[in-house]
Parts: sequence; structure tokens; C-alpha cells
Amino acid sequence: TILILDFGSQYSHLITRRCRELNVYAELMPCTTKISDLHFKPKGIILSGSPYSVYDDDAPHADPAIYTLGVPILGICYGLQEMAYHNKGKIAQCNHREYGFAQVEVSKIGEGSSSSVDALFEGLGDMQVWMSHGDQLSEMPPNFHIIGRTQSAPYAAIAHDSKPFYGIQFHPEVTHSPRGKEVIGRFVLNICGCRTNWTMEEFIGKEIARIRDICGPKGRVIGAVSGGVDSTVAAKLMHEAIGDRFHAIMVDNGVLRLNEAKQVNEMLNKDLGVNLTVVDASDLFLSRLEGVEDPEKKRKIIGNTFINVFEEEAAKIEAAAEAEEKKGAEAKGRVEWLLQGTLYPDVIESISFKGPSATIKTHHNVGGLLADMKLKLIEPLRELFKDEVRALGRLLSIPAPLVQRHPFPGPGLAIRILGPVTREQVKILQQADSIYIEEIRNANLYNQISQAFAVLLPVKAVGVMGDKRTYEQVIALRAVQSEDFMTADWYVFPPEVLRRISSRITNEVSGVNRVTYDISSKPPSTVEWL
Ligand code: XMP
Repeated sequence: TILILDFGSQYSHLITRRCRELNVYAELMPCTTKISDLHFKPKGIILSGSPYSVYDDDAPHADPAIYTLGVPILGICYGLQEMAYHNKGKIAQCNHREYGFAQVEVSKIGEGSSSSVDALFEGLGDMQVWMSHGDQLSEMPPNFHIIGRTQSAPYAAIAHDSKPFYGIQFHPEVTHSPRGKEVIGRFVLNICGCRTNWTMEEFIGKEIARIRDICGPKGRVIGAVSGGVDSTVAAKLMHEAIGDRFHAIMVDNGVLRLNEAKQVNEMLNKDLGVNLTVVDASDLFLSRLEGVEDPEKKRKIIGNTFINVFEEEAAKIEAAAEAEEKKGAEAKGRVEWLLQGTLYPDVIESISFKGPSATIKTHHNVGGLLADMKLKLIEPLRELFKDEVRALGRLLSIPAPLVQRHPFPGPGLAIRILGPVTREQVKILQQADSIYIEEIRNANLYNQISQAFAVLLPVKAVGVMGDKRTYEQVIALRAVQSEDFMTADWYVFPPEVLRRISSRITNEVSGVNRVTYDISSKPPSTVEWL
């Protein structure tokens, strides 16, 4: 395992991802972690970047014990400065913040020094890298030497003369540093000697064994499925581990995509064999949403109603389990666990040393479930990034279109209908959305886009159809590309695809006479309109 200490950089999780892409298990922990509290011995440590300056009063510093553990350490950006600071070097503010591409020269520097110097950049040569920093090293710490420089950073990469300590000012973890992953590879594979045993094939076996172990021979697990990748993969994994002792529940909240509940039922239940109940609660949801426009209210109503319906269904499963238990023999036990498809980014967010970041929208829709139900939580995906979940899904024979599916928000179409939510409005949006996605798939563009959806605007515009004036609603189309949805850019469609989508929506969806395309990036906009 590689331990990555997070000093609050926006790129910290990317370091973890790059290690895992190299099939090396890496865990991100707050920089305040005490080495004596670790539940494992790392084979190497990486110090992340940070928005702080090392001399700030409230600057975060690592436990000095990391330097006596006897394992290799790589400091990235602030991590380099932190390493230099600890080892009595000097750091100074740059005259101007350096932000962007730089060429780092590594080839002509290491000559004559120890062989460990070459290890970090072995075989890589001079390379283009991404810089983003306000401070830089101004005086080398004793017993360190330079192993790389750029035009504006004479100490862009340094190494200890005899210990395996390295620091680099640039960011190898971002894709703007094309050979950055190789630098990380040199560190974790060659210098730390990590084994490449983090694969989804190995994960499945271990995780199924772990689930069986914690669930024991009796006892049931319930979990909600939505038709999205995470809940489907989690459900299938539970089914592989404990068969019919896992009960999946899908709540049709009336604001799903066209035919969603039916399709999920067919795929999960019929094709994948998961024990699934679909509850049609659309009347209840839509009646509670009546007249509500405020997005946060919509989210709250949907979240709370979901909990009500889910609990009711869970109670039915529990009652049936109790009845079975009374009959004796083949009893599978009572409902003891709640499955959640929590992913690693959520875990990271909640362990950050700065505390969870400011809430712009309340995304976590089922937060209240656990406290009420007295169930223990089981989270088989909590170590995984999204792309790892997708790889896992493929190995579990989940159909490719589902594995590649764009995310869909818990409050569903309710936050894409900007006005009040009614059955009619839902129907219009479902049809428009379905045409949009179908045409994106026909044009073979689905996998290039991170998320695409239609939005129904609460305004009417004038149009003409045949000889008649129409006065109908407007659909806005949104498609974005994004790494992690923290930032996103709008997708540039070939014009003929947009033309076809617009023409089909205005012709086929009654109530809509105009289609627009959203060309806003995040920030300053968000992905969803509400
Ligand atoms: P925003 O609009 O915040 O969206 O830029 C970023 C990502 O989060 C999804 N999203 C939600 N997901 N419940 C969810 O489960 C929500 O209330 C919610 N709001 C936004 C959004 O679809 C995008 O993928």
C-alpha cells in the first residue's frame, strides 16, 4: 500500500487514482494522520499539494515520524516544500504564480551523483509537465541535490543524497503532465517496490469473501437500486456473495427516465438474477411535489418520501423474514444490514482534514435512512473510484451500456423540470430526453460525453406549425465533459446531430416548439440547472 497524505490540494485524489491505475493499492488520508495510528505499514508515502504556504500559521504539517519509518517519500508541489521545510531548506514566494506548462530538464543533471537520483526519472528524459504553485524552494535543504529544473524553477526536482526522499515541484498526477504517470510509476514500482496486485479480478474474490464473513451464515441485507452503475454493481456483488439473502428495492418515484423502472427490473431481476422488488410510488411522490418550485424543497421532499417508501418495503421484507423464521428450517435470518453504494470520493470528502466542503446542492439523498432503521451499513464499493466500479461491473457481466451509463441524480427529472412537477411535464421531459439520448447513441457519441440530459423550461415561446401559431414550452439540451463533475465543460456537438435532435423533439414531443443548447461551463454554472 502507498499512503498518500492529503494537504488539501484539488488534485490529491488523482494521485491515488494514478497509483491504482498502475495496479498498486493506494490510500488517501488526511495529512494530520499519526503514523502510530495507521492500521498498515505503507511501502511508500506521497505528500500531496496544498493551497497553503509552509510558513502560514495554520499550515498543515505531516507527522515527523514519516521520515524515520525507513520508507521512500515523494513530495509533490507543497509536498516538496513540506519535505524541504522539515529538512531545513528555505521556501520563498515566487514573483508571480507559476501556472501552466513547463519543460523540466532532468537529463544533464544527475551526472556524477548517486544512482538513486536517476530512479525517479529513469528512462524518461526531459519532459513537459504541469505547474501550479505560488511558492517554491529557494534554498536546498542540506544533504539534498537537484535532479530536475525548469526555466523558472531551479529546484523543480530534488532528491536526498542517501535516503529515498524525492520532491517535485510539478504535478505528475494531472493529465497535463503526459509522462507524469510514469514518474509516479518509477516511484511506486521501482523505488518503493510495490506489487501490482490491485486488480478488479482480485478485488471481487476478496470482497465477496469479506461480505460473506461480515454477514455471517444468516441475516439479510436490503438495498436500494436506481438503475445507475453504482447501485447495480453493488447489488450484483451482494447477490454473488449471499444470493437471495440480499433484497434489492427499486422505488419508482414518478420522475425517472422513460421506461426506467421496467428496464431495471428486466435487467437486474431477469438477466442478473437479483432478488428485486419494484415499488410504484409515483402517485405519492407527485402529490407531495405538487406546486413546489424551489429545488432544495424538491430534493427534500423526494429524499424524505423515498425514506418513507423504502422503510415500508423493508418492513414487509422483515415481516416475511420473521414469518419464515417461525416456520424454522431454512430460515435466512432477519434484516440486519443496509447496502449503500458509497464510492471512494465520498469517503475522501468526509475524511478531509478541512472537513467536508461547502454544500452547494444537497446531493446525498438517503442520508437519513440509517439512523431510523437501526441497520448496520455495508458499503462494498467504498474503496473504489468510478472507473474501478465500471471495470468491476464488466467483470460481473453487467451489460456494457449500463456500465458506461451517465450519472442520473437521485431527485431525477424533478430537478430538470424547472417549474412545478406534474405528470404532463414529466411526460414531455421523458420523451425529449429519450430522443436526445437515443440520437447521441446513434451518433456514437455517448461514451465521449460525461453526462447528457434535457431540461424543461417553465416558459412558453411562439412557434409556427403548418399555418398555425403555436405557443409552447422550450427544451434546453445539456451535455458536458468532466473528469469528476467538480468542473465541467460543455460538449461541442457536430451540428448535424444537434439539427436532428432538435427536429425530432419539436416534431415528436407535443407541447414543445423550441430547442436550445446550453453552452455554459462549470464553474460558473453547475451541471444541472437546479
Ligand atoms: P452539479 O449540478 O452540482 O452536478 O454541477 C454535479 C453532478 O451531481 C449530480 N447531481 C445530483 N446527484 N442528487 C444526486 O444524486 C442530487 O440532488 C444531484 N444534484 C446534482 C449531477 O447530475 C452531476 O452529475
